[in-house]
Amino acid sequence: MSDLREKYISLIAEAADEAALEALRVQAVGKKGEVSLQMRSLGKMTPEERQVAGPALNALKDEINSALAAKKAALADAALDARLQTEWLDVTLPARPSRQGSIHPVSQVTEEVTAIFAELGFSVAEGPQIDSDWYNFDALNIPGHHPARAEMDTFYMARDEGDNRPPHVLRTHTSPVQIRTMEKQGAPIRIIAPGRVYRADYDQTHTPMFHQVEGLAIDKDISMANLKWTLEEFLRAFFEVDAVELRFRASHFPFTEPSAEVDIRCSWEGGTLKVGEGDDWLEILGSGMVHPKVLQAGGIDPDLWQGFAFGIGIDRIAMLKYGIPDLRAFFDSDLRWLRHYGFNALSQPNLHGGLS
Ligand code: PHE
Repeated sequence: MSDLREKYISLIAEAADEAALEALRVQAVGKKGEVSLQMRSLGKMTPEERQVAGPALNALKDEINSALAAKKAALADAALDARLQTEWLDVTLPARPSRQGSIHPVSQVTEEVTAIFAELGFSVAEGPQIDSDWYNFDALNIPGHHPARAEMDTFYMARDEGDNRPPHVLRTHTSPVQIRTMEKQGAPIRIIAPGRVYRADYDQTHTPMFHQVEGLAIDKDISMANLKWTLEEFLRAFFEVDAVELRFRASHFPFTEPSAEVDIRCSWEGGTLKVGEGDDWLEILGSGMVHPKVLQAGGIDPDLWQGFAFGIGIDRIAMLKYGIPDLRAFFDSDLRWLRHYGFNALSQPNLHGGLS
């Protein structure tokens, strides 16, 4: 019996894999295994012999079973170790700085704006760049004859003669997303909607395609004071300086009442653009309290709800923050410009780690 013990304990210790272990199990303690056969022979023994051999055989069976189990666990551990060795990765190594490709200032600023407004509880909404003139104008209280339609230098989509579908335009602002969000989610609302917009205009501060971020906050008790606080809070965080000087100017938009535009103090001296100093002002946003007719067009009851909206020129605030004097260069795809003004693709703007 001690021969059997030695034999199996050493065979088990040498087993190379689970299949070999299973074969040993069958061979030793399986139904027709060596230990089981000996147990069967207990019947032929005298009672005295049986009293000694019985417990010993049981103990041997237990010992072999636990040796099998221990070896099985050891094999599994070894397999895991081997796998960990081959899949080993030092996550503390710094990422390889990418020498090619960078984040465009417009993308960077969009991320920065989103990070700041996320902190203020605004989520991101979207709408199409080609939209019907109803969403772009009528629903925003700009009827067909309104001079604002002409002022916006709208690009109309070409139409075949006899095409009776409603006219579509390249959206002239992100404000149609106000209406789409009202329709989709109803009140209350707290969103921003960044994206591309289009107007036929071209000079140092205008390109036919540019970017805006719309803001919309609708609730029961939102006032002009909330608007002013939100914009000031945003602009301070965005420019990362306390010295930004803002000018709120009474203005007019068909879709807000009252309305205000915000300018920022800056200088253009020597071909560089600086924020917070100088005698120039650059208009960066329009804003106001959402007109009751606009709420109505979006299916929201203006007797119960009110709120503010704003539209910020993303490219404008990018120029100001990063001292980029000509907007047209943003969209020239000149690699030298992109390398100079681009941002590291691996650093994510956030309020804790720093925006830029
Ligand atoms: N849509 C306006 C523009 O493009 C900006 C704006 C948005 C003004 C929301 C007021 C409220 O000039």
